[in-house]
Amino acid sequence: IDPKRRQMLEAHELLQKLYHHLLLHTKEGEPALKYLRGRGFTDEAIEKFGIGYALPAWDFAANMLQKRGFPLSVLEESGLVIRNEKDGKYFDRFRDRIMFPIMDEKGNMVAFAGRAVRKQEHPKYLNSPETPLFNKSKLLFNLNRARGPIRKKQQAVIFEGYADVISADRAGVENGIATMGTSITPEHVRMIKRLTDGVVICYDSDQAGLTAAFRAGKMLSENGCEVRVAQMPDGLDPDDYINQHGGEKFRMDVIGASLTFMAFKMQYFRMNKNLQNEGEKLAYIEEVIQEIAKLENPVEKDLYLRQLSEEFSLSLDALKEQERQYGSRET
Ligand code: UTP
Ligand code: MN
Ligand code: MN
Ligand code: MN
Ligand code: MN
Repeated sequence: IDPKRRQMLEAHELLQKLYHHLLLHTKEGEPALKYLRGRGFTDEAIEKFGIGYALPAWDFAANMLQKRGFPLSVLEESGLVIRNEKDGKYFDRFRDRIMFPIMDEKGNMVAFAGRAVRKQEHPKYLNSPETPLFNKSKLLFNLNRARGPIRKKQQAVIFEGYADVISADRAGVENGIATMGTSITPEHVRMIKRLTDGVVICYDSDQAGLTAAFRAGKMLSENGCEVRVAQMPDGLDPDDYINQHGGEKFRMDVIGASLTFMAFKMQYFRMNKNLQNEGEKLAYIEEVIQEIAKLENPVEKDLYLRQLSEEFSLSLDALKEQERQYGSRET
């Protein structure tokens, strides 16, 4: 292992231990700890995920790490400190934030996500920049812990956020992972597919989350995954849901009752349409038939064509004929 890389990893490990200590055992960490507990983070979760707190000081991490022999230039390259262009001084990237350590697949500590303690603070989450250790398009949060459970259940659950993964874990859903605030990439899909083809998308129940679920589902199913999409009441995210309704309901009514990707698409297409309007109704039916034409399983095709036929009182033969036309147009 390259000595500079080793130093960068060690700096992260050291800082994580310190942040964790500051959160749990100091007066300065008290408001952050209170905030976390108020949100339903248990001591067990804080321990398991190594959550910590970065002090408000400008150069706490820079000083501490420099005293321990880490060159400032290496710390800068690792994303932990920033060099001020004007005076050449170094200062901490993360100040007065709740710190979530980010580990790679092997459990190396390679980055941090820092959450603001107060609502008015922006950005809400500050993540490490891209560094030689950390490339967010190739990292899935919690994959190091979730790998075993994903293999065993033959299912991965993808969330939007860190808090969702952590709450789901507490709810007994230990096969949860999340991207780092970005859309899912082909590299992420490859990483998941090494473990399983079964994926449940469990994004936030808002317009952004639904759109992201549609895109992610498309990418995953085009790459041979069997995709389901979980649904929650309007506006909630999985972490909110678990806090309001409990883990049991989350496992049964959200993960357990997730929709097939096709059923999700049918809901998605009709979301902003008025199906009382003849033109919009036809547009909807066309969209659905085009999607049905992409399905490989003839039984599934039949199921959804029958659903359409019943819902809109249309002849099944006409729908089948239309579906065949779309199907042949594609090849
Ligand atoms: P959300 O806005 O849904 O946040 O963004 P959240 O996960 O529910 O956060 P809490 O519950 O308020 O703490 C989803 C994810 O997008 C990324 C983070 O990874 C976050 O978990 N994000 C969001 C950022 O990177 N920066 C931001 O400022 C906001
Ligand atoms: Mn501890
Ligand atoms: Mn969101
Ligand atoms: Mn959210
Ligand atoms: Mn949330």
